[in-house]
Amino acid sequence: MGRVTKLLVKSEVKMDNTSGGGQGDFTVTPWKVTGQVDYQKLIKKFGTQPIDTKLVERLFRDAGEENHAVRRGVYYSHRDLDIVLNEYEQGKKFFLYTGRGPSGPMHLGHIIQFYFTSWLQRRFNANVYIQLTDDEVFLSERSPSLETAGKWSYENALDIIAAGFDPDRTFIFRDTEYMGNVYKLALKVAKKINFSTAKAIFGFKGDSNIGFIFYPAVQVVPSLFERNRCLIPCAIDQDPFWRVQRDIAESLGFPKAAAIHSKFLPALTGITAKMSASAAETAIYLGDDEKMVRTKIMKNAFSGGQATVEEHRRLGGNTDVDVPFQWLYMFFEPSDKRVEQIRSDYSSGRMLSGEIKSILIDRVNGFLKEHRERRAKAEKDVDKFMKTGKLASRMMSTIYE
Ligand code: TYM
Repeated sequence: MGRVTKLLVKSEVKMDNTSGGGQGDFTVTPWKVTGQVDYQKLIKKFGTQPIDTKLVERLFRDAGEENHAVRRGVYYSHRDLDIVLNEYEQGKKFFLYTGRGPSGPMHLGHIIQFYFTSWLQRRFNANVYIQLTDDEVFLSERSPSLETAGKWSYENALDIIAAGFDPDRTFIFRDTEYMGNVYKLALKVAKKINFSTAKAIFGFKGDSNIGFIFYPAVQVVPSLFERNRCLIPCAIDQDPFWRVQRDIAESLGFPKAAAIHSKFLPALTGITAKMSASAAETAIYLGDDEKMVRTKIMKNAFSGGQATVEEHRRLGGNTDVDVPFQWLYMFFEPSDKRVEQIRSDYSSGRMLSGEIKSILIDRVNGFLKEHRERRAKAEKDVDKFMKTGKLASRMMSTIYE
């Protein structure tokens, strides 16, 4: 474990001067992220806890395996992860809950959450509940028709399944289909949340539609699917829901939910923004073909390289702002040795911008190729995850009171 400690401390320093230090104003809500996010400030603002070296070591020990996104501080904040591990070490089970707003095709930032959740499922042998919030996206500003959100729920479910979940321990459900089984519980949750709290936490205004005002109750409900503690992997933008959950869960006889939060995979166009489905030039979608990936990265990826080759050789590239480096670091280059080699080659000027972009193109295309092969096989499994698998069939016959 000594190795883990050393690596983490090193990467914490690196992350702090890369995507850590936002300047000026920024806003993070479940529906909007603007400005350069200061992740350390966000911990204070949201009242979460940083994930420190000790907790990382403990997570890896209990998991029996390391995870590079955790080791490098991509998952950097939590609520009660220590309590989840205390209970786990005493033989008590926990379950996992995560979700997706099916407004359109998924991008690389979204899918990271599902690969991480499936890793947790394998390592901890946990049930997983995955909510497809067609209601949320219909009510939101994104506002696709319910029919369109339904179509994307199916398409997104294929991508989610491709991230490697166990069909007997995973239940994927679409809100408008499953609501009959949980409506009573949703009402109990909704009754505990008053409008002032909802306004303060979610920023609802006079012109917010009333469906949207009810919606947070719907996103809280799956955290109450079992009497065990729930652990929620997600990016930090979803935390406001868990704040509400933690205010009310115990009064309904459930444990407070725990959460493990990631930073955002930055936009292709620059680390000051997050990859966002509503800004196409910032994103690579899971359906983008090899040529498209190459063109997008070559054309749009923000480079920390110098203006001319001569200058670059002399001054080197800036890995703190270079999006290809950041993506390799956060997700696409799991080998610490290789990522540190790239850092050193690029920042010393031995490696050029075109070269680091080519490495990223190869990694992203390699990842997407394997992902798409698994996705093609996922079609035959959709029913298992949504209806007939062991956990799904139990959930289909459960009515929450
Ligand atoms: P949605 O569809 O906006 O996002 C799905 C998941 O992806 C995360 N995410 C990102 N992660 C890394 N980098 C990015 N650039 C990035 N953009 C988004 C989100 O945090 C989320 O984990 N309301 C939710 C759906 C939902 C949910 C949940 C999410 C329902 N229940 C429980 C997490 C946990 C939504 O619209 O997510």
